[in-house]
Amino acid sequence: MKTLLKLSTLAALLAAGAAHAQSTAPIKVGLMLPYTGTYAALGNAIENGFKLYVQEQGGKLGGREIQYVKVDDESDPSKATDNVNKLIKRDNVDVLVGTVHSGVALGMAKAARENNTLLIIPNAGAGDITGPMCAPNIVRSSFSNWQPAYAMGVVAGQRGVKRAMTITHNYAAGTETTKGFTEGLEKSGGKVIKELYLPFPNVEFQALLTEIAAQKPDAVYAFFAGGSAVKFVKDYAAAGLNKTIPLYGPGFLTDGTLEAQGAAAQGLLTALHYADNLDTPRNNAFRKNYALAYKANADVYAVQGYDAAQLLGVGLAAAKGDIAKRDVVANAMRGATVDSPRGKFTLSKAGNPVQDIYLREAKGVNNEFKSIAVKALADPARGCKL
Ligand code: BEZ
Repeated sequence: MKTLLKLSTLAALLAAGAAHAQSTAPIKVGLMLPYTGTYAALGNAIENGFKLYVQEQGGKLGGREIQYVKVDDESDPSKATDNVNKLIKRDNVDVLVGTVHSGVALGMAKAARENNTLLIIPNAGAGDITGPMCAPNIVRSSFSNWQPAYAMGVVAGQRGVKRAMTITHNYAAGTETTKGFTEGLEKSGGKVIKELYLPFPNVEFQALLTEIAAQKPDAVYAFFAGGSAVKFVKDYAAAGLNKTIPLYGPGFLTDGTLEAQGAAAQGLLTALHYADNLDTPRNNAFRKNYALAYKANADVYAVQGYDAAQLLGVGLAAAKGDIAKRDVVANAMRGATVDSPRGKFTLSKAGNPVQDIYLREAKGVNNEFKSIAVKALADPARGCKL
């Protein structure tokens, strides 16, 4: 009896020790981002932003150290399932943070739903993720493809555009941004007369630019980002189209790209949930700290990475660092008001930011605030049953 008691006491002590070890181990964050290809700069800025916030908190969120496991998703949807499963099943990450490309993010969201893994999306705007696929364990720190597109459509209409053409890559983000812009433009009676697409990540724009020149629309709406945006804006100007046909876009067209685009981008008007020169203490401190840490200017992707870490911080604080309390973490993230460099935002029921969309103008290396295009814009979250 005495031996039995001793054994059970030992077992209890070991169990308590194991539980203690678990609650103090670092939180494993799986960063699944593009580190190569046309969206590589976006992936790096998101990682930088995320790490900056963690560093500002002394390297801990909710009292727990943060450990990173990284996968380069190459913006390749065909590799998404394998890549995300490596993080979930091989590396046993506690939370997934990713990604940029909507097609890859759809694969991540499917795996996150199946495995009930927390997923924070720091960019990809695929409407389905906060629409029919919405789930309590999935939130965004970024936008839906519809949001900046719709706002740009509204502004284009207000500026008298009646006949517009659109041009973008042919994948979820491209088709959704086109729909959003069309919806906004149609509010004032404008129309999209032709949608032009090319396969992702093809950047041979010449034939399509020739078609734009032939159709002579009142304006062109273009969604490209990263390396593709640099080439498109330069090609548009080189073809002389910028002299006669105004070019509009969601802010990705000129965010993080102005230095490389040079004169070709000057004066471009875009709509986005961030503007570089927002003169608030929060944005000024963020930009200063980012520049000090990385010797580079912050952009919208850095903001979204920073805010992904803020969301995780809110969730972990509510669960006192115990990420196994998945519901507590997820509910706290959804209920958060995030004090972002873009301005404060909340999350919708579907897990998408409700946020102001700004009209910006490219000046020098900054996308400067001009006005609020649409205030507190919520994605319609069509099909979300939460
Ligand atoms: C997307 O695929 O959702 C996306 C990629 C780059 C910038 C914005 C959106």
